[in-house]
Amino acid sequence: MTYAVSDLDAVSCIRVEGGGAARGALRVPGDKSISHRALLLAALAHGTSILEGLSRGQDVTCTRHAVERFGVEVVEDGQGRLLVTGPLRHEPDDVLDHGNAGTGIRLTAGVCAGIDGLSVLTGDEYLRRRPMDRIAVPLREMGARVDGREGGRLAPLVVRGGGLHAITYAPAQASAQVKSAILLAGLSAEGRTVVEEVHPTRRHTEEMLEQFGGRVAVQDTRVSVERSDLAATTVHVPGDPSQAAFWAVAAAISDGGEVTVHDLYPGFGRSDFVGVLQRMGADVDFDQAGGTLTVRASRLQAVELGAEDIPGIVDEVPVLAIAAALAHGTTVISGAAELRAKESDRISYTCAMLRAFGVKVSELEDGMVIEGGGQLHAARVDSHGDHRLAMAAAVAASCATSGTTTINRWESVATSYPAFAADLMRLTGVSVTADAEQQA
Ligand code: S3P
Repeated sequence: MTYAVSDLDAVSCIRVEGGGAARGALRVPGDKSISHRALLLAALAHGTSILEGLSRGQDVTCTRHAVERFGVEVVEDGQGRLLVTGPLRHEPDDVLDHGNAGTGIRLTAGVCAGIDGLSVLTGDEYLRRRPMDRIAVPLREMGARVDGREGGRLAPLVVRGGGLHAITYAPAQASAQVKSAILLAGLSAEGRTVVEEVHPTRRHTEEMLEQFGGRVAVQDTRVSVERSDLAATTVHVPGDPSQAAFWAVAAAISDGGEVTVHDLYPGFGRSDFVGVLQRMGADVDFDQAGGTLTVRASRLQAVELGAEDIPGIVDEVPVLAIAAALAHGTTVISGAAELRAKESDRISYTCAMLRAFGVKVSELEDGMVIEGGGQLHAARVDSHGDHRLAMAAAVAASCATSGTTTINRWESVATSYPAFAADLMRLTGVSVTADAEQQA
């Protein structure tokens, strides 16, 4: 059976065949991190915010539905924009289902902690296995009641919010989600809430709070917020650098490759993968302020990545590992234990994916060692429900020696990049079809 391109987003197993150099120009989906925050802050703000360019992936759709459960009106204006009228009116009228979205559930829990009332937050089988104690502990310290299952894997999460006081908190992990949950709760807490980070992480919450009129201050790794009344505004959501990383690597590793991505988020903490590719010797033109990135094929060298590097490339490691597999020399990635707490155990499953493509790799507790310089051989791989592993595998498949690669649990891609297969076919010339046997 032949599937139309749009149907490929939903199939559970795809076959990738043929293909060549990745060439072309594109705009990737609206940034996922910014989209979640735009919806939540618009929901907290007085008046009607106009949000344009939001991610259309399932993760952000879940946040949209969550916001509606608080009595916030969300309307499509027919020109691709969402009109969101806040502030939120009441506790959610039903369970908030965040699907696969760690950012969605953690940031929304921060909002729930700040409002009088009861919220129940849950997600899919993968999200319910992820650690939530990292937000539950500080939110409890601020005065919210947060409950869930034993062992820190708390979702379904029950939050009874209201009556918060400010805290000064230093999360153990470098995590923008934890920082943001605390800051969002801090918007309604008595006093000045301070978060001290181990390493600086993406600053979307801080930047957007400022845009919505929040009283926020940033000093290197110290961020603080005071009780604030937010005012509606217009948000243009730029393209997602983490999605651009797939095309950057695809161009860098394919003979004759050249891809340009436009309208990328230009701010702090999201484009570090470009620097990593440059350290590997990639041929890159990057106008960061203008949001335009061009990457061309070149001979890549191995690289060493440690704890300082990881917060800036936390979502790009699986696809950078593909580049490392084709680079000359041995790449060592360490200080990356947080990757085990992502949509999947990204250390273990990135290693498994590389091995399936014929790469020699050893797994470390906090990273991996990749022997580069070989070829990628068509393989059977499993995304383990992790969209970034699925997309990294598809990039590898487009450069693999002849044969057919099958990627199982492909449907996870719809959480963040619904048109990925279409873009892959257009840029690399591969054929992507549903694996009829697996579908049956
Ligand atoms: C995100 C922060 C990162 C990242 C995730 C999005 C955000 O997670 O991996 O995809 O939007 O704040 P951590 O906060 O767990 O590092």
